[in-house]
Amino acid sequence: MWTKERLQNTIKKQLKDHVFVIASNREPYSHEYSGKAIKWAKAIGGLTVALDPVMQACKGIWVAYGSGDADKDAVDKNDKVQVPPDKPRYTLKRVWLTKEEEIGYYYGYANQSLWPLSHIAYRQPIFNREHWNCYKAVNKKFADAILKEIGDKKAFIWLQDYHLVKCAQYIKEKRKNVISALFWHIPWPNPEVFRVCPQKKELLEGLLANDLLGFHILYHCHNFLSTIEQELEAKVNWEELSVIYKGHKTIVRPFPISVDAEAISRHASNIKVTRSIDKIPLDIDPPYEILCLGIDRVDYTKGILEKIKAVDRFLEKYPEYQGKFVYLQLGALGRLRIQTYKDLINSIQALAEEVNWKYRSGYWYPIVLVNKRIEYNKILAYYRSADLCLVASLHDGMNLVAKEYLMANVDLKGMLVLSHFTGAARDLKDAILINPYDTEAFADGIYTALKMSKKERENRIKKMRQSIDEKNIYRWAGHFIEQLLKL
Ligand code: G6P
Repeated sequence: MWTKERLQNTIKKQLKDHVFVIASNREPYSHEYSGKAIKWAKAIGGLTVALDPVMQACKGIWVAYGSGDADKDAVDKNDKVQVPPDKPRYTLKRVWLTKEEEIGYYYGYANQSLWPLSHIAYRQPIFNREHWNCYKAVNKKFADAILKEIGDKKAFIWLQDYHLVKCAQYIKEKRKNVISALFWHIPWPNPEVFRVCPQKKELLEGLLANDLLGFHILYHCHNFLSTIEQELEAKVNWEELSVIYKGHKTIVRPFPISVDAEAISRHASNIKVTRSIDKIPLDIDPPYEILCLGIDRVDYTKGILEKIKAVDRFLEKYPEYQGKFVYLQLGALGRLRIQTYKDLINSIQALAEEVNWKYRSGYWYPIVLVNKRIEYNKILAYYRSADLCLVASLHDGMNLVAKEYLMANVDLKGMLVLSHFTGAARDLKDAILINPYDTEAFADGIYTALKMSKKERENRIKKMRQSIDEKNIYRWAGHFIEQLLKL
């Protein structure tokens, strides 16, 4: 069983003479002004939440974009700050971006080209040469910041996600012998989808500068290898899952990411969470007997519109639930400078209003949307109160909400309704699996979950909790590092 301690020991023993660097676009902790005072906040995204406990165990350096408005006032002269700010365990080094860089690299190439290209959710990617140049310049900035940190020491650099595709290449141009790995947190599409990208060769060459490439599931590894075969003159070894390109070998492996299972269960059982459960009906405007929950960053890949359509059909088909059932959709807004996201918010709002108008009766209406950041204890209380949690991604690398919900489900109540198109569905077979595009079957899935006997529900949840407990975040990081040590 992998634990924080086992991971710590592995790193202490095996990587002791290496500088351990993680780099991602999103920072795990930001500093923000609140009036004149500076407050800090923990990021809420899947990637940062998953990696923070790993980093706390490893005590390395995390390089990330300093996006908080008070970030510059919280760092030392080397742009570093110790985090978590209330209980320092590791170093966060911030990289600064100009507004133009943020527009071209983050809002542009990362989120209007690579994000829609990688998720098959039928949003056309936009490719703009200026965005691409900006993206490369920012990757160079990250590479320079990392190079400065490692100097001429031995180093293990662990890059995260689609924001930093070119980084390893820039690092290796200066320091050939460092070990570099990248974990791709989103799906890798099939070659037919990927081939439209005008920068495909440069992207693939950037990724193949890494010694190890990780994806959540084997299917994405296979998609990646097929893409390489189609696009580059490289030697793909399907048995070993590796690529040799221009004399350099890259190992490709699946590592399904997870959560800090034990910590979530422990926090969910604490007295603060238990107390706030009683207050939840006061937070939700319409009265209800059955609470159905959805928590997603507001994104077109998450199937939020599809969930509302399924709830509509469910109430139409099973009218006995009208007046009793409330669907609460929580989620932070992001990427709002991109028009597609602004349009999505409007569409969600409009659809929810339409459905509420259709069924409203007295004080009751079925859909409640809350688009704001919610305190962690409160989220845990929502997870524990919910009779049902809906995860309906149209395409998702893993989806950690599904795993977090189950680990917070210490009372073994409720049920998970989960999209087939998430990486999580490969493992969580005891959830009610649905196709979010099939409204009728999705509505029936909600009904099946609600009708399930207490005993069956408990059995299924227990099984899924056990599996997540075993395949926790420390195992994910431990396997990744063990694979690197084999190289
Ligand atoms: C999701 C994806 C991650 C990605 C992150 C970026 O959590 O699963 O792979 O890195 O979004 O979100 P952001 O808010 O930083 O754009």
